[in-house]
Amino acid sequence: ARKIIIDTDPGQDDAVAILLALASPEDLDVLGLTCVAGNVPLNLTTRNARIVCELAGKPETRVFAGCDGPIARKLVTAEHVHGKTGLDGPTLPEPTMPLQDQHAVDFIIDTLRNEPAKTVTLCPLGPLTNIATALTRAPDIAERIQEIVLMGGAYFEVGNITPAAEFNIYVDPEAAKITFACGAPITVMPLDVTHKALVTSPRNEAFRALGTRVGTAVAQMTDFFERFDLEKYGSTGAPLHDPCVTAYLIAPHLFQGRFINVEIETQSELTLGMTVADWWRVSGRAPNATFMGDIDADHFFALLTERLARL
Ligand code: BDR
Ligand code: CA
Repeated sequence: ARKIIIDTDPGQDDAVAILLALASPEDLDVLGLTCVAGNVPLNLTTRNARIVCELAGKPETRVFAGCDGPIARKLVTAEHVHGKTGLDGPTLPEPTMPLQDQHAVDFIIDTLRNEPAKTVTLCPLGPLTNIATALTRAPDIAERIQEIVLMGGAYFEVGNITPAAEFNIYVDPEAAKITFACGAPITVMPLDVTHKALVTSPRNEAFRALGTRVGTAVAQMTDFFERFDLEKYGSTGAPLHDPCVTAYLIAPHLFQGRFINVEIETQSELTLGMTVADWWRVSGRAPNATFMGDIDADHFFALLTERLARL
């Protein structure tokens, strides 16, 4: 199984991404969850991550608290999408499992230094603050990373928090810039992919029909999350952004993309946090990321439902 660290700001879609990973031990060995401020502040993302581990029946999972705000900016949150707690929808018990003492950034650095080189994959599902802080503090870890598979950015679908920017990149563009420049192999799940991973009602009914606590909770989460987006997506269902990352690690053949140059805008007020993706390779700049453009959504949902059934 591939060793991964999930860096996350749960978030209903983060929760589903984590559940998919924890349900797939033959494919993914989750070394730890590192929490970051994003959809909601850090005290809630650390709470929500532990709620999700307990929901999965895996309270032994290590959960670490990381950075409580972007490197150089004020935190922007997304309660308008995820609700007050970040995990609105189902009613789940407050977590009793512990939070680890170590800081998430130290855990990321130590793990990359202690595990054999190129055997640990980072899976960022939120703003890239923890990742960039680790890379800045310990530049030696960059060449030890097997791959960074992240949800963030957009090419054609452009923005969901401003007309030009996707939320995760917008919240901490300086962190994104550091991450995209680090030299490790990067695979990106932008909005172009995730807006094709829509939870239509039959797909949500399939979660509910599992008849398990997890199936019901996931159905309630996706009912709540981005439920207002009928106009935008032509569907009453939410785009399941973050699970594209963990699904990719299990079934990469469900995704298609291109190895291109991606740069992050950090200066312009108008386009702050934009992922300038050179899809047509017109810039002459060296490729630094595989930017996905397409997903086989039916098989993605089939995989997700089948794996969630195990929990
Ligand atoms: C991303 O932002 C968050 O709201 C979601 O959890 C996802 O990671 C989508 O833009
Ligand atoms: Ca997220």
